[in-house]
Amino acid sequence: MTQKLPTRNKKVLDWVKEMATLCQPDAIYWCDGTQQEYTRLCNELVKKGTFIKLNPKKRPNSFLARSNPKDVARVEARTFICCKKEIDAGPTNHWADPSKMKATLKKLMKGCMKGRTMYVIPFSMGPLGSPIAKIGIEITDSAYVVTNMRIMTRMGAKVWPILGNQDFVRCFHSVGAPLKKGEKDVAWPCNPDNTYITHFPETREIISFGSGYGGNALLGKKCLALRIASTMARDEGWFSEHMLIAGFENKKEKMKAYVAAAFPSACGKTNMAMLIPPKSMPNWKVTTVGDDIAWIKPDKNGVLRAINPEAGFFGVAPGTNPETNKNAIESCRANTIFTNVALTDDGDVWWEGLTKVPPKHLIDWQGNDWTPKSTTPAAHPNSRFTAPAKQCPCIDKDWENPAGVPIAAFVFGGRLATNTPLVYQAFNWQHGVYLASTMGSEKTAAAEGKMGEIRRDPFAMLPFCGYNMGDYWKHWMDMFGRIKQHPLFFRVNWFRKDKKGKFMWPGFGDNMRVIEWIVRRAYNKVGAKETVLGWMPNYKDMTWRGLSMTEKQFDDLMSVDKKLALQDVDSQGEYFEQFLEGNRLPTDMDAELVLCSNRLNR
Ligand code: GTP
Ligand code: SPV
Ligand code: MN
Repeated sequence: MTQKLPTRNKKVLDWVKEMATLCQPDAIYWCDGTQQEYTRLCNELVKKGTFIKLNPKKRPNSFLARSNPKDVARVEARTFICCKKEIDAGPTNHWADPSKMKATLKKLMKGCMKGRTMYVIPFSMGPLGSPIAKIGIEITDSAYVVTNMRIMTRMGAKVWPILGNQDFVRCFHSVGAPLKKGEKDVAWPCNPDNTYITHFPETREIISFGSGYGGNALLGKKCLALRIASTMARDEGWFSEHMLIAGFENKKEKMKAYVAAAFPSACGKTNMAMLIPPKSMPNWKVTTVGDDIAWIKPDKNGVLRAINPEAGFFGVAPGTNPETNKNAIESCRANTIFTNVALTDDGDVWWEGLTKVPPKHLIDWQGNDWTPKSTTPAAHPNSRFTAPAKQCPCIDKDWENPAGVPIAAFVFGGRLATNTPLVYQAFNWQHGVYLASTMGSEKTAAAEGKMGEIRRDPFAMLPFCGYNMGDYWKHWMDMFGRIKQHPLFFRVNWFRKDKKGKFMWPGFGDNMRVIEWIVRRAYNKVGAKETVLGWMPNYKDMTWRGLSMTEKQFDDLMSVDKKLALQDVDSQGEYFEQFLEGNRLPTDMDAELVLCSNRLNR
């Protein structure tokens, strides 16, 4: 099939030609983003065995993909920031010299698309033509990636006239599995022994090799909208964050506040973004703007306004059910791609936690028979659904507003079993930046590696900051002066456990009780008490109707063991030391640590 070139942008044409010469694909295909194209690619993926078409009566126009068991999550150990100076990547990133990395990659890329089609995907992160949006072009040899990108981004022919002759973010992706003449392809090609997720922030380029999964391969998401965008944001005076954006409205009290909240991967962003308040709080309504990434800029009046650069959800499946997240269940009712969930006998999907009683028989995420007696999970813990955001029943009316929504509060939450209260408010901006920077969290299945281990995950950006984390903190401190209406900062923890290992807080919809206090704080309508950590709600400051929570239980949830807190402050001091190299630790941060330690020692 010969295609008429859809653009005359010389930078695009030259780059595509250069990549084609290097990678030697059998064909080049320029994606137009139409429904016909999507349907055709899905059908091809079904024929190849990558997709299983789900029962159209149960799950219209939806598919299931099963990945290679070695390619199931982001690979942080293989993720690199390639800038000229190592210090600019900082102590929390893997660094590589850009020209050396390019030489390594070039060898791998030579002939890497043999036997495959090279797809060219023009896409916009953010509403088409919005002044906040950024355009990227992804070259990939994976049709699975094309279909997912069509859900996750604004993709296709409509991007060309907006791009015109401008520059764009070069996003190269290959599964790294060329085919010999006549060689039959596998359902999920990848190259786990040679995986490289590389970013060149100085030249705004991404090269991803060897993995076909999620954030490793859908390059608009973590690679562009977080790692590259965070460097753009630093240079241009805005924020690119691993945050959900949601509106919380109480018509009776005439309040509507948009909140941006950072939680590490698989720690509840999707959940909070589409939260359904408990029946006992009927005046509250929640609307979704985004569930994973926020781009936040001061407008001309100094108000911080946020957009969701994505167009879809790549949500964690396990644990999602009509009680924990009805809106997510509705969002993936149709037109959805599921990856690594289980298949039911009637052609639908299942995962742990979807129903209380598991089906008697399933095909698990690796394609094997599964029964409730099986000792392995039916769905992979990081199995996901790719669903269009517009299918979310509670999508906000302004979710595609190019001007964004005004942010009243920032919320930061890790997954911590001990000594971290349910909620507290920072004393001020600088204190808030310090609290977000020192946040710890248990590792989840969203990334390869040891689960459950506590690590510091500043701003939930540890895996996603494209430059020195110390400079990132400084950027947050510096932005204070550029903003006229300062959002309040809060720390929350839905995951505290009692001595028996049981969650002390019901979580999910009941988180509305905490968010209500947060919104009322933003409106200056509710009390709080000063503590060593920050401002905390009194028992009487929160709504308890419909939940049994005694004052004693609440006190336990909010309690802080000073000795343990001081130990944490010591460990924060040690953590900060690595940023002294090159003088990257903001002085404000050091000052906040001293203030916190003094308060605890009082
Ligand atoms: P990424 O997409 O990886 O960035 O993660 P996310 O933060 O959007 O994760 P998500 O909302 O999908 O949450 C993942 C897990 O957290 C699921 O297993 C949920 O059941 C669980 N979860 C979400 N909210 C709560 C809560 O309030 N309490 C408890 N205990 N678990 C929760
Ligand atoms: C995360 O891990 O934070 C995700 C999933 O949102 S992925 O896009 O695969 O990184
Ligand atoms: Mn995420």
